[in-house]
Amino acid sequence: MLNFETGETDFENRLTGPEEQREDAAMGESLRPHSLAEYIGQTRVKENLKIFMDAAKGRGECIDHILLYGPPGLGKTTLAQVVAAEMGVNLRITSGPAIEKPGDLAALLTNLNYGDILFIDEIHRLNRSVEEVLYPAMEDFGLDIIIGKGPSARSIRLDLKPFTLVGATTRAGQLSSPLRDRFGVQLKLELYGTDDLATIVRRSAGILGVPCDESGAMEIASRSRGTPRIANRLLKRVRDFAEVMGEGVINKDITDVALSRLEIDRLGLDATDRRMMKLIIDNYAGGPVGLETLAAALGEEAVTLEDVYEPYLLQLGFLSRTPRGRCVTARAYEHLGIKQGAPSAPKQLRLDEEQ
Ligand code: ADE
Repeated sequence: MLNFETGETDFENRLTGPEEQREDAAMGESLRPHSLAEYIGQTRVKENLKIFMDAAKGRGECIDHILLYGPPGLGKTTLAQVVAAEMGVNLRITSGPAIEKPGDLAALLTNLNYGDILFIDEIHRLNRSVEEVLYPAMEDFGLDIIIGKGPSARSIRLDLKPFTLVGATTRAGQLSSPLRDRFGVQLKLELYGTDDLATIVRRSAGILGVPCDESGAMEIASRSRGTPRIANRLLKRVRDFAEVMGEGVINKDITDVALSRLEIDRLGLDATDRRMMKLIIDNYAGGPVGLETLAAALGEEAVTLEDVYEPYLLQLGFLSRTPRGRCVTARAYEHLGIKQGAPSAPKQLRLDEEQ
């Protein structure tokens, strides 16, 4: 949301935030690939998935439970949709926080057909009582239901049709080990390289019907923080500029104009990233500073910093994690144009100030 006092946007609506926004969801459907062949990048994940799917199909079984983990916006939901399409089964999409009670999960599980995929996003946020219902469901396709109360209560087992659970999380480390161990397939999604992102931008531009030359696609790609969701979002904003200020064609020049106006620099960093790095430089002499301290100073949650801001800054080598906290690197100083040892915005010496 735009803060009219500070002019800052909070991270939920950042143009360069990887989390899904309403517009992404609407546009996402048309831009999402529907088959593994259409899915660009993540080569190792795709190759392994193809083997597991072919093997399961060959045996006439459903594919083993899959855990997808990695930073947000890389296509975990998309991949689940692709697997469902390739296996020719239905997909049910839900999320950890949406399943409040064991009964909610039981309702989802009993409605699945043979081989269907249940996709649980943010699976690390499932509550304990729900998680416990999931164990026998994953392991033996059984649901243990307690009937009655007090001394007369008894448990009966309900058989489920075999299904595949696809769990997605940004934080595999936060999953309890009994849950993690029940996923036979565990795949890590990595941030995308610029070439793959440029291919995604060209594909999306084709679907949206906007001409986009190679230089434009590369420029959007290199400013998208390794994240397809951001690349598609930037493509739509650059299209707006191209249609209103240019000839309706996306090239490097109009991309530069658009993204400079949106304060997204040549590496895809926005005002919030720069604020974070400058804060470490100005207030903590470049670090180390503890994550919680940093989060409090920025008015963000520590997990938000860890999941949303840090992966790309770490990948660029602008930030390092040390046992004593976060440090800004020499490379970041260089990018920000700040001399190491000097604060980012030197105080103006006022003549009327006491010396
Ligand atoms: N759109 C978002 N992610 C994609 C991907 N990996 N391949 C093709 N199109 C995409």
